[in-house]
Amino acid sequence: VADVLIVGGGIIGLSAAYRLATGGRKVRVLDSSGARGASWVAAGMLAPASEASFGEEDLTRLTLAAVPAFTAFAAELEAVTGQPVGLLTEGTLAVAFNPDDRVALDRLTEFRDALDLRTETLTGRQVRALEPYLAAGVRSGVLASDDLSVDNRQYLNTVASAARSAGVEVLDGSGAGTVTHLFRQAGRVVGAATANGVEHRADLVVLCAGAASAGLLDLPVEPVKGQILRLQVPDRLRAAGEVLTHTVRGLVRGSEVYLVPRRTGEIVVGATSEQQGFDVTVTAGAVYELLRNAYELLPISSEFTFYEATAASRPGTPDNGPLVGRYDPGLIVATGHYRNGVLLSAITAEAVARLADDEALAEEWTPFDPHRFDH
Ligand code: GLY
Repeated sequence: VADVLIVGGGIIGLSAAYRLATGGRKVRVLDSSGARGASWVAAGMLAPASEASFGEEDLTRLTLAAVPAFTAFAAELEAVTGQPVGLLTEGTLAVAFNPDDRVALDRLTEFRDALDLRTETLTGRQVRALEPYLAAGVRSGVLASDDLSVDNRQYLNTVASAARSAGVEVLDGSGAGTVTHLFRQAGRVVGAATANGVEHRADLVVLCAGAASAGLLDLPVEPVKGQILRLQVPDRLRAAGEVLTHTVRGLVRGSEVYLVPRRTGEIVVGATSEQQGFDVTVTAGAVYELLRNAYELLPISSEFTFYEATAASRPGTPDNGPLVGRYDPGLIVATGHYRNGVLLSAITAEAVARLADDEALAEEWTPFDPHRFDH
Protein backbone atom coordinates (compact mmCIF):
# COMPACT_ATOMS: atom_id res chain seq x y z
CA VAL A 1 0.00 0.00 0.00
CA ALA A 2 1.28 3.43 -0.96
CA ASP A 3 1.10 6.47 1.31
CA VAL A 4 0.39 8.65 -1.68
CA LEU A 5 -1.25 7.75 -4.97
CA ILE A 6 -0.59 10.12 -7.85
CA VAL A 7 -3.01 10.09 -10.75
CA GLY A 8 -1.09 11.20 -13.83
CA GLY A 9 2.57 10.66 -14.74
CA GLY A 10 3.28 13.78 -16.76
CA ILE A 11 5.74 16.38 -15.60
CA ILE A 12 3.53 17.54 -12.72
CA GLY A 13 2.78 14.06 -11.39
CA LEU A 14 6.37 12.85 -11.66
CA SER A 15 7.87 15.99 -10.10
CA ALA A 16 5.44 15.78 -7.19
CA ALA A 17 6.14 12.06 -6.85
CA TYR A 18 9.88 12.67 -6.67
CA ARG A 19 9.50 15.44 -4.09
CA LEU A 20 7.16 13.37 -1.90
CA ALA A 21 9.41 10.33 -2.11
CA THR A 22 12.51 12.29 -1.11
CA GLY A 23 10.43 13.52 1.83
CA GLY A 24 10.12 9.91 2.99
CA ARG A 25 6.74 8.89 1.54
CA LYS A 26 5.94 5.72 -0.33
CA VAL A 27 4.55 6.91 -3.68
CA ARG A 28 2.76 5.17 -6.53
CA VAL A 29 2.06 6.91 -9.87
CA LEU A 30 -0.68 5.79 -12.24
CA ASP A 31 -0.10 6.98 -15.79
CA SER A 32 -2.12 6.11 -18.87
CA SER A 33 0.21 7.51 -21.54
CA GLY A 34 3.68 6.30 -20.54
CA ALA A 35 4.65 9.96 -20.02
CA ARG A 36 3.87 10.74 -23.66
CA GLY A 37 1.23 13.42 -23.11
CA ALA A 38 1.48 17.21 -23.15
CA SER A 39 4.79 17.28 -21.23
CA TRP A 40 6.49 15.20 -23.91
CA VAL A 41 5.01 17.16 -26.80
CA ALA A 42 5.81 20.56 -25.18
CA ALA A 43 8.56 22.97 -26.29
CA GLY A 44 10.13 23.61 -22.87
CA MET A 45 10.02 27.42 -22.79
CA LEU A 46 10.46 28.79 -19.26
CA ALA A 47 9.33 32.24 -20.14
CA PRO A 48 7.54 34.40 -17.54
CA ALA A 49 8.36 37.58 -19.45
CA SER A 50 7.60 36.58 -23.01
CA GLU A 51 4.47 34.62 -22.10
CA ALA A 52 3.05 37.36 -19.83
CA SER A 53 -0.38 38.27 -21.17
CA PHE A 54 -2.94 40.98 -20.50
CA GLY A 55 -5.05 40.29 -17.42
CA GLU A 56 -2.78 37.49 -16.18
CA GLU A 57 -0.75 39.39 -13.60
CA ASP A 58 -1.31 36.73 -10.91
CA LEU A 59 -0.06 34.03 -13.24
CA THR A 60 3.01 36.11 -14.07
CA ARG A 61 3.76 36.45 -10.34
CA LEU A 62 3.58 32.65 -10.04
CA THR A 63 5.69 31.97 -13.14
CA LEU A 64 8.34 34.43 -11.91
CA ALA A 65 8.54 32.57 -8.60
CA ALA A 66 8.70 29.32 -10.56
CA VAL A 67 11.99 30.13 -12.31
CA PRO A 68 14.36 29.92 -9.29
CA ALA A 69 12.41 26.89 -8.07
CA PHE A 70 12.92 25.29 -11.48
CA THR A 71 16.66 25.96 -11.73
CA ALA A 72 17.27 24.63 -8.20
CA PHE A 73 15.17 21.53 -8.92
CA ALA A 74 16.94 20.95 -12.25
CA ALA A 75 20.35 21.22 -10.59
CA GLU A 76 19.27 18.73 -7.91
CA LEU A 77 18.01 16.28 -10.53
CA GLU A 78 21.18 16.57 -12.60
CA ALA A 79 23.26 15.89 -9.49
CA VAL A 80 21.11 12.93 -8.44
CA THR A 81 20.92 11.26 -11.87
CA GLY A 82 24.08 12.44 -13.63
CA GLN A 83 21.83 13.23 -16.63
CA PRO A 84 21.62 16.71 -18.20
CA VAL A 85 18.24 18.43 -18.57
CA GLY A 86 19.34 20.81 -21.35
CA LEU A 87 18.74 24.14 -19.63
CA LEU A 88 19.54 27.17 -21.84
CA THR A 89 19.88 30.71 -20.53
CA GLU A 90 20.21 32.89 -23.66
CA GLY A 91 16.72 34.31 -23.25
CA THR A 92 13.83 34.94 -25.61
CA LEU A 93 13.91 37.29 -28.56
CA ALA A 94 10.46 38.49 -29.60
CA VAL A 95 10.18 39.83 -33.13
CA ALA A 96 7.48 41.23 -35.39
CA PHE A 97 7.07 40.39 -39.06
CA ASN A 98 5.20 43.45 -40.38
CA PRO A 99 4.15 46.90 -39.07
CA ASP A 100 0.82 45.60 -37.67
CA ASP A 101 2.66 42.83 -35.81
CA ARG A 102 5.05 45.48 -34.54
CA VAL A 103 2.18 47.50 -33.07
CA ALA A 104 0.86 44.38 -31.29
CA LEU A 105 4.33 43.53 -29.95
CA ASP A 106 4.85 47.12 -28.74
CA ARG A 107 1.58 46.98 -26.78
CA LEU A 108 2.63 43.70 -25.14
CA THR A 109 6.06 45.12 -24.34
CA GLU A 110 4.49 48.18 -22.64
CA PHE A 111 2.34 45.87 -20.54
CA ARG A 112 5.36 43.73 -19.62
CA ASP A 113 7.42 46.80 -18.73
CA ALA A 114 4.58 47.94 -16.44
CA LEU A 115 4.95 44.62 -14.59
CA ASP A 116 8.67 45.31 -14.21
CA LEU A 117 9.62 42.35 -16.36
CA ARG A 118 13.09 42.86 -17.70
CA THR A 119 12.92 43.38 -21.45
CA GLU A 120 15.17 45.34 -23.79
CA THR A 121 14.08 46.77 -27.14
CA LEU A 122 16.63 46.18 -29.88
CA THR A 123 17.12 47.67 -33.35
CA GLY A 124 17.16 45.48 -36.44
CA ARG A 125 20.95 45.66 -36.45
CA GLN A 126 21.15 44.53 -32.81
CA VAL A 127 18.70 41.72 -33.50
CA ARG A 128 20.79 40.44 -36.37
CA ALA A 129 23.95 40.67 -34.28
CA LEU A 130 22.28 38.16 -31.93
CA GLU A 131 20.59 36.06 -34.62
CA PRO A 132 22.20 36.61 -38.03
CA TYR A 133 19.85 34.24 -39.87
CA LEU A 134 16.63 36.09 -39.07
CA ALA A 135 14.80 37.45 -42.12
CA ALA A 136 15.89 40.84 -43.44
CA GLY A 137 12.34 42.13 -42.89
CA VAL A 138 12.66 41.85 -39.10
CA ARG A 139 13.35 45.48 -38.15
CA SER A 140 13.36 45.32 -34.37
CA GLY A 141 13.05 42.93 -31.46
CA VAL A 142 12.51 42.67 -27.73
CA LEU A 143 14.96 40.60 -25.70
CA ALA A 144 13.75 39.00 -22.47
CA SER A 145 17.10 37.93 -21.10
CA ASP A 146 15.74 36.28 -17.93
CA ASP A 147 13.66 33.73 -19.86
CA LEU A 148 15.07 30.22 -20.07
CA SER A 149 14.33 27.02 -21.94
CA VAL A 150 14.79 23.37 -21.14
CA ASP A 151 14.88 20.26 -23.28
CA ASN A 152 11.50 19.08 -22.01
CA ARG A 153 12.14 15.46 -23.02
CA GLN A 154 15.53 15.25 -21.32
CA TYR A 155 13.96 16.93 -18.32
CA LEU A 156 10.98 14.59 -18.23
CA ASN A 157 13.25 11.54 -18.51
CA THR A 158 15.47 12.91 -15.76
CA VAL A 159 12.55 13.53 -13.41
CA ALA A 160 11.26 10.02 -14.16
CA SER A 161 14.59 8.36 -13.41
CA ALA A 162 15.14 10.45 -10.26
CA ALA A 163 11.65 9.51 -9.08
CA ARG A 164 12.31 5.81 -9.69
CA SER A 165 15.65 6.00 -7.86
CA ALA A 166 13.84 7.65 -4.95
CA GLY A 167 11.59 4.60 -4.79
CA VAL A 168 8.54 5.84 -6.71
CA GLU A 169 6.58 3.03 -8.33
CA VAL A 170 5.10 3.89 -11.74
CA LEU A 171 2.32 1.80 -13.22
CA ASP A 172 1.54 2.76 -16.78
CA GLY A 173 -0.41 1.78 -19.83
CA SER A 174 -4.02 1.64 -20.90
CA GLY A 175 -4.95 -0.99 -18.30
CA ALA A 176 -2.76 -0.64 -15.22
CA GLY A 177 -2.24 3.11 -15.52
CA THR A 178 -5.62 4.40 -16.64
CA VAL A 179 -7.74 5.60 -13.76
CA THR A 180 -11.48 5.10 -14.27
CA HIS A 181 -12.62 6.75 -11.04
CA LEU A 182 -11.59 7.92 -7.58
CA PHE A 183 -13.31 6.17 -4.73
CA ARG A 184 -14.46 7.48 -1.37
CA GLN A 185 -15.29 6.25 2.08
CA ALA A 186 -17.28 8.35 4.56
CA GLY A 187 -16.70 11.47 2.44
CA ARG A 188 -12.96 10.94 2.15
CA VAL A 189 -11.08 10.05 -1.04
CA VAL A 190 -9.28 6.80 -0.26
CA GLY A 191 -8.03 5.58 -3.61
CA ALA A 192 -8.42 5.18 -7.36
CA ALA A 193 -9.55 2.32 -9.58
CA THR A 194 -7.81 1.47 -12.84
CA ALA A 195 -9.09 0.04 -16.13
CA ASN A 196 -7.68 -3.42 -15.32
CA GLY A 197 -10.05 -3.64 -12.36
CA VAL A 198 -7.52 -2.95 -9.60
CA GLU A 199 -8.40 -0.69 -6.67
CA HIS A 200 -5.42 1.25 -5.33
CA ARG A 201 -5.76 2.58 -1.80
CA ALA A 202 -3.71 5.33 -0.21
CA ASP A 203 -3.79 7.82 2.65
CA LEU A 204 -3.61 10.62 0.13
CA VAL A 205 -4.50 10.93 -3.56
CA VAL A 206 -3.02 13.67 -5.77
CA LEU A 207 -4.79 14.39 -9.05
CA CYS A 208 -2.29 15.48 -11.71
CA ALA A 209 -4.14 14.20 -14.76
CA GLY A 210 -3.78 17.31 -16.92
CA ALA A 211 -6.44 17.59 -19.61
CA ALA A 212 -8.02 14.32 -18.45
CA SER A 213 -8.70 15.70 -14.95
CA ALA A 214 -12.30 16.74 -15.64
CA GLY A 215 -13.15 13.14 -16.43
CA LEU A 216 -12.36 12.21 -12.81
CA LEU A 217 -13.50 15.23 -10.85
CA ASP A 218 -15.85 18.15 -11.48
CA LEU A 219 -13.10 20.59 -12.48
CA PRO A 220 -13.18 23.25 -15.23
CA VAL A 221 -10.24 21.79 -17.17
CA GLU A 222 -10.62 21.61 -20.94
CA PRO A 223 -8.25 20.31 -23.59
CA VAL A 224 -6.56 22.94 -25.75
CA LYS A 225 -4.89 21.23 -28.66
CA GLY A 226 -1.33 22.19 -29.57
CA GLN A 227 0.33 20.96 -32.74
CA ILE A 228 4.11 21.30 -32.81
CA LEU A 229 7.04 20.37 -35.05
CA ARG A 230 10.57 19.21 -34.44
CA LEU A 231 13.25 20.08 -37.00
CA GLN A 232 16.95 19.30 -36.99
CA VAL A 233 19.64 21.65 -38.27
CA PRO A 234 21.97 19.57 -40.50
CA ASP A 235 25.61 19.34 -39.39
CA ARG A 236 26.84 21.14 -42.50
CA LEU A 237 24.86 24.24 -41.41
CA ARG A 238 26.06 23.95 -37.81
CA ALA A 239 29.73 23.62 -38.78
CA ALA A 240 30.33 27.37 -38.37
CA GLY A 241 28.24 27.66 -35.20
CA GLU A 242 24.60 27.30 -34.16
CA VAL A 243 22.06 28.71 -36.59
CA LEU A 244 19.81 29.85 -33.72
CA THR A 245 20.84 30.45 -30.12
CA HIS A 246 17.85 32.28 -28.57
CA THR A 247 14.28 31.19 -28.35
CA VAL A 248 12.57 33.33 -30.99
CA ARG A 249 8.92 34.23 -30.67
CA GLY A 250 7.42 35.87 -33.67
CA LEU A 251 4.19 37.52 -34.59
CA VAL A 252 3.64 36.80 -38.26
CA ARG A 253 0.57 38.53 -39.72
CA GLY A 254 -1.17 38.26 -36.38
CA SER A 255 -0.37 34.62 -35.74
CA GLU A 256 2.17 33.54 -33.15
CA VAL A 257 5.01 31.15 -33.75
CA TYR A 258 7.98 30.19 -31.62
CA LEU A 259 11.28 28.52 -32.44
CA VAL A 260 13.11 26.92 -29.53
CA PRO A 261 16.67 25.75 -30.20
CA ARG A 262 18.52 22.97 -28.38
CA ARG A 263 22.23 22.37 -28.09
CA THR A 264 21.63 19.15 -30.03
CA GLY A 265 20.69 21.12 -33.16
CA GLU A 266 17.00 20.41 -32.71
CA ILE A 267 14.63 23.31 -33.26
CA VAL A 268 11.09 23.03 -31.93
CA VAL A 269 8.50 25.03 -33.85
CA GLY A 270 5.14 25.62 -32.19
CA ALA A 271 2.34 25.74 -31.68
CA THR A 272 -1.29 25.85 -32.58
CA SER A 273 -3.91 26.53 -29.95
CA GLU A 274 -7.22 24.91 -30.79
CA GLN A 275 -10.34 24.19 -28.78
CA GLN A 276 -11.11 20.83 -30.32
CA GLY A 277 -11.84 18.33 -27.57
CA PHE A 278 -9.42 15.44 -27.19
CA ASP A 279 -8.34 15.31 -30.83
CA VAL A 280 -4.55 14.88 -31.14
CA THR A 281 -4.29 14.35 -34.87
CA VAL A 282 -1.79 16.39 -36.87
CA THR A 283 -3.33 18.37 -39.72
CA ALA A 284 -1.74 19.43 -43.00
CA GLY A 285 -2.94 23.00 -42.45
CA ALA A 286 -1.21 23.32 -39.08
CA VAL A 287 2.06 21.89 -40.40
CA TYR A 288 1.86 24.26 -43.37
CA GLU A 289 1.23 27.32 -41.19
CA LEU A 290 3.92 26.52 -38.65
CA LEU A 291 6.49 25.89 -41.40
CA ARG A 292 5.43 28.98 -43.35
CA ASN A 293 5.71 31.21 -40.26
CA ALA A 294 9.05 29.67 -39.32
CA TYR A 295 10.27 30.28 -42.87
CA GLU A 296 9.08 33.92 -42.86
CA LEU A 297 11.17 34.59 -39.74
CA LEU A 298 14.08 32.25 -40.43
CA PRO A 299 14.38 31.52 -44.17
CA ILE A 300 17.22 29.04 -43.65
CA SER A 301 14.73 26.78 -41.84
CA SER A 302 13.68 25.42 -45.23
CA GLU A 303 17.01 23.54 -45.23
CA PHE A 304 16.40 21.85 -41.87
CA THR A 305 15.44 18.19 -41.60
CA PHE A 306 11.79 17.70 -40.73
CA TYR A 307 11.44 14.76 -38.40
CA GLU A 308 8.42 15.07 -36.16
CA ALA A 309 4.96 16.58 -35.98
CA THR A 310 2.93 15.88 -32.85
CA ALA A 311 -0.09 17.17 -31.01
CA ALA A 312 -1.27 17.07 -27.42
CA SER A 313 -4.01 18.42 -25.20
CA ARG A 314 -2.95 21.25 -22.91
CA PRO A 315 -5.01 21.33 -19.72
CA GLY A 316 -6.73 24.71 -20.10
CA THR A 317 -8.70 26.50 -17.36
CA PRO A 318 -11.08 29.49 -17.50
CA ASP A 319 -8.39 31.96 -16.32
CA ASN A 320 -5.39 30.11 -17.82
CA GLY A 321 -4.01 29.50 -14.31
CA PRO A 322 -3.46 26.13 -12.61
CA LEU A 323 -5.65 24.48 -9.98
CA VAL A 324 -3.48 23.60 -7.00
CA GLY A 325 -4.63 22.91 -3.46
CA ARG A 326 -6.54 20.66 -1.08
CA TYR A 327 -9.81 19.73 -2.75
CA ASP A 328 -11.60 17.20 -0.56
CA PRO A 329 -10.51 15.21 2.48
CA GLY A 330 -7.83 12.83 1.22
CA LEU A 331 -7.45 14.62 -2.12
CA ILE A 332 -5.03 17.23 -3.43
CA VAL A 333 -5.44 18.65 -6.90
CA ALA A 334 -2.47 19.83 -9.03
CA THR A 335 -3.66 20.27 -12.58
CA GLY A 336 -4.74 22.80 -15.22
CA HIS A 337 -1.22 24.05 -15.92
CA TYR A 338 -2.20 24.92 -19.50
CA ARG A 339 0.83 26.47 -21.29
CA ASN A 340 3.14 26.42 -18.27
CA GLY A 341 3.37 22.86 -16.99
CA VAL A 342 7.10 22.44 -17.48
CA LEU A 343 7.92 25.82 -15.95
CA LEU A 344 5.56 25.28 -13.00
CA SER A 345 6.58 21.67 -12.35
CA ALA A 346 9.14 22.32 -9.60
CA ILE A 347 7.14 24.95 -7.72
CA THR A 348 4.04 22.74 -7.97
CA ALA A 349 5.96 19.75 -6.60
CA GLU A 350 6.99 21.90 -3.64
CA ALA A 351 3.41 23.05 -3.14
CA VAL A 352 2.09 19.47 -3.22
CA ALA A 353 4.67 18.43 -0.61
CA ARG A 354 3.59 21.31 1.64
CA LEU A 355 -0.09 20.45 1.20
CA ALA A 356 0.66 16.82 2.03
CA ASP A 357 2.24 18.05 5.27
CA ASP A 358 -0.78 20.31 5.96
CA GLU A 359 1.36 23.41 5.60
CA ALA A 360 0.20 26.69 4.10
CA LEU A 361 1.24 27.62 0.57
CA ALA A 362 3.23 30.72 -0.37
CA GLU A 363 1.18 33.80 -1.19
CA GLU A 364 1.64 33.54 -4.96
CA TRP A 365 -0.56 30.42 -4.87
CA THR A 366 -3.58 32.16 -3.34
CA PRO A 367 -5.24 33.01 -6.70
CA PHE A 368 -4.97 29.38 -7.87
CA ASP A 369 -7.15 27.59 -5.36
CA PRO A 370 -8.88 24.67 -7.11
CA HIS A 371 -12.27 25.70 -5.68
CA ARG A 372 -12.21 29.19 -7.14
CA PHE A 373 -14.69 28.39 -9.91
CA ASP A 374 -17.21 26.61 -7.63
CA HIS A 375 -20.69 28.05 -7.63
N1 GLY B 1 3.97 27.33 -23.72
C1 GLY B 1 3.85 27.15 -25.10
C2 GLY B 1 2.62 26.53 -25.57
O1 GLY B 1 1.75 26.17 -24.80
O2 GLY B 1 2.47 26.41 -26.76
